[in-house]
Amino acid sequence: MKSIEELMEKFDLAGEIVFDHGEGGLVRANITTPDGSTELYLHGGHLASWTPTDKSDILWMSRKSCFEQGKPIRGGVPLCFPWFGPNEEKPDAPAHGFARTSIWDVELVQRQDDGGVSVTLLLKSNEQTRKLWNAEFELRYTVTVGAVLTMMLETRNVGVTPLTMTQALHSYFAISDIHNISITGLEGVEYISKVEGKRTRQADATIIFEGETDRVYINTTSACVLKDPGMGRTLTITKKGSNSTVIWNPWESKAQRMTDFADDEWINMVCIETANALDNTITIQPGKTHEITAQISIDNI
Ligand code: BG6
Repeated sequence: MKSIEELMEKFDLAGEIVFDHGEGGLVRANITTPDGSTELYLHGGHLASWTPTDKSDILWMSRKSCFEQGKPIRGGVPLCFPWFGPNEEKPDAPAHGFARTSIWDVELVQRQDDGGVSVTLLLKSNEQTRKLWNAEFELRYTVTVGAVLTMMLETRNVGVTPLTMTQALHSYFAISDIHNISITGLEGVEYISKVEGKRTRQADATIIFEGETDRVYINTTSACVLKDPGMGRTLTITKKGSNSTVIWNPWESKAQRMTDFADDEWINMVCIETANALDNTITIQPGKTHEITAQISIDNI
């Protein structure tokens, strides 16, 4: 991995990107634009903050998160790849795959015409990934920071056999109170509830939260709107190349069981994950690529 000095020399624009050692000494890219700033860790390709100018952080981070080699960061946007959730064939393999604990390279930093900045990180198959997943791939993750936030994960099959994967941009959003928010956009969509252990369909109603919620909505390309009157804002999450949306809040007792999650923090977070999971497995032929994109915009209410 390149040193901070080498990264600064290679990728400096005009102060829009500064590399430093962030939490736990992990290398981080701090991107600042007229519209807001982000923190992107090379550990996991992990976006840990998106703070639009004059607003509070849109992403939620746990104050008990680990920032250590080999461990996932709790909050922000972990990248789940090449499998979402547990690996059914290898129960000992890490949950949500290895992308979120791998060290990524910086490939490109670009200024956009509108003043935004995009950073592309790269992770290629290597000796370590082959031990867990027998596939040859190149993963490119481009985060574009402007008036909206865009995250695009591109998977290229550079092998000679088809590659099959599941994935998620596992976005944690900061909210005022889980009891007082609502999510629309998934009306009538079929979902698999891990909490209830069943497959069912979302009634034609807004999602509200009354207990532990862990659902994979399948066969949906719809945008979701998170309405948070307490924060005075709505977030709209639009997506491309994604057929699943995951909605997760651990509620009280599961939060207590997680060591990297403070006991009271479940009240102020909700995950709306842009995904391809369960029924929506993706197969990529040799030489082909797949792109999954999530874009987040903010409106005041
Ligand atoms: C969600 C899953 O995406 O991630 C949940 O649907 C899981 O089942 C949650 O508990 C957190 O996973 P992890 O591995 O980061 O603790």
